[in-house]
Amino acid sequence: MGKVIAVANQKGGTGKTSCAVHLLHWCSQKGKSLLIDADSQESSTRWLEGQGYNCQVERDPENLFELAIDAAENYQYVIIDCPASLGEVTKAAIYCAELVLVPVQPGVLDVDSASKTFRHIKHAQKVRKDGTPYGLAFINRATKRTRALKEAKEYLRQYTHVGLAKTIIYQRQLIQDAPASRATAFTLDGAAAVEVAELYQSLFKEALPNL
Ligand SMILES: Nc1ncnc2c1ncn2[C@@H]1O[C@H](COP(=O)(O)OP(=O)(O)O)[C@@H](O)[C@H]1O
Ligand SMILES: [Mg+2]
Repeated sequence: MGKVIAVANQKGGTGKTSCAVHLLHWCSQKGKSLLIDADSQESSTRWLEGQGYNCQVERDPENLFELAIDAAENYQYVIIDCPASLGEVTKAAIYCAELVLVPVQPGVLDVDSASKTFRHIKHAQKVRKDGTPYGLAFINRATKRTRALKEAKEYLRQYTHVGLAKTIIYQRQLIQDAPASRATAFTLDGAAAVEVAELYQSLFKEALPNL
């Protein structure tokens, strides 16, 4: 069975799609991978268009659940890019995932809204009783040496059923520009791309240590 990995946070613009697309690229180097675009904005689908990746849109919660579980029989990695809501689609993704990555931006309102996603992870863990889905929050769009970053770390450490990644993804123009050039940090050239690729790689190694 392959691994289902959901990238979720009810808040928009926290970095779900950026993480999911980079993760798809990284996982594709390791094994057959599929990205399920569960967001009506279809950002990841547009980003990945014409690049030869396996990508499928599915926004119906029941279909999404079945698709992800069935796809795990044929793919080693199934990545779900969740919408910016805690509706049925995100719940379905969390319930069928083995791992849930939660990008969180520093800032009081952002960290507070992530707690609702953590609550759903806890509910799924209670139902499953085998410790899954593992939750891993990571701080995205951070600026070094800021109070917001320090406070976000302190706040997120309170949640013992969800881990906090040591890797922090900083605010980088390259990440913002990547979709327009239909690329990822892994495929772009230059020092800025190498730095961002290393950050994502470090995050993914923490999330999937056996890979
Ligand atoms: N670390 C980052 N540095 C700079 N821009 C970022 C970063 N992460 C995400 N972005 C940008 O922020 C916006 C929202 O990111 P996205 O991945 O689409 O979030 P979501 O899928 O959660 O809505 C996009 O314009 C994206 O390029
Ligand atoms: Mg998105």
